[in-house]
Amino acid sequence: MRICVFDTAQQACKAAAAMIASQVIRKPNSVLGLATGSSPIPAYQELIRLYREGILDFSETITYNLDEYVGLTEQHPCSYHFFMQDQLFDHINIRKENTHVPDGHSEHLDETARAYDEAICAAGGIDMQLLGIGRNGHIGFNEPGSQFIYGCHVVNLSQSTIEANTRFFDSEKDVPRQAISLGIGSIMQAKTVLLIATGKDKAQAVHDSILGDVTPQVQASILRTHPEAIFFLDRDAAALL
Ligand code: F6R
Repeated sequence: MRICVFDTAQQACKAAAAMIASQVIRKPNSVLGLATGSSPIPAYQELIRLYREGILDFSETITYNLDEYVGLTEQHPCSYHFFMQDQLFDHINIRKENTHVPDGHSEHLDETARAYDEAICAAGGIDMQLLGIGRNGHIGFNEPGSQFIYGCHVVNLSQSTIEANTRFFDSEKDVPRQAISLGIGSIMQAKTVLLIATGKDKAQAVHDSILGDVTPQVQASILRTHPEAIFFLDRDAAALL
């Protein structure tokens, strides 16, 4: 595991974007695992800039997102489908059919989750997985618990995640209570994992992931056992290291 600390969030995200850019240049048909939330937005802006400059071509790139809320339609402005279109896909030349976000609106969520894992496998697995981290140490929506769950699954969101994500909704009661999330297995099978953590809210989770025990209570701690995991931190997120 490598830990890179930058003065600002912008610099941390730019460095993570440079890793993704180099992956896409080396292998245009890369399978990228993508995240939503606030943390990766500057990285997506940098990828869009590199595309507009003619440095990146996403026409063969395939993406699988980490997660989606249960019960929101693709068009819902708080859905992760909408987020990805709005923050990245609408601004680059990726093919719509090459982008994948779990269907949280499916009537058969367990089947949908199984099919999502199978599709990733059939695509050859994830080359590079981008992650944020929850204040409680979650990656994807793998919440603190008694075990690491291997496959894509339906999750009951923890109260701390509901509170953290209320900022994207009108009120706490509007935050869905469930999500469909990639499991720890697919994340750990990615050839390279990039985790972006910025801001002082993430300092404790970063500390516990890097310096605490490897434990399902802090799901990101599993990344210590990944041979190619890189944490991109700003000074605030690294403050307790
Ligand atoms: C998002 C995801 C989550 C977020 C995490 C941090 O797809 O899987 O694990 O990365 O909750 O969210 P932000 O970046 O909004 O603090």
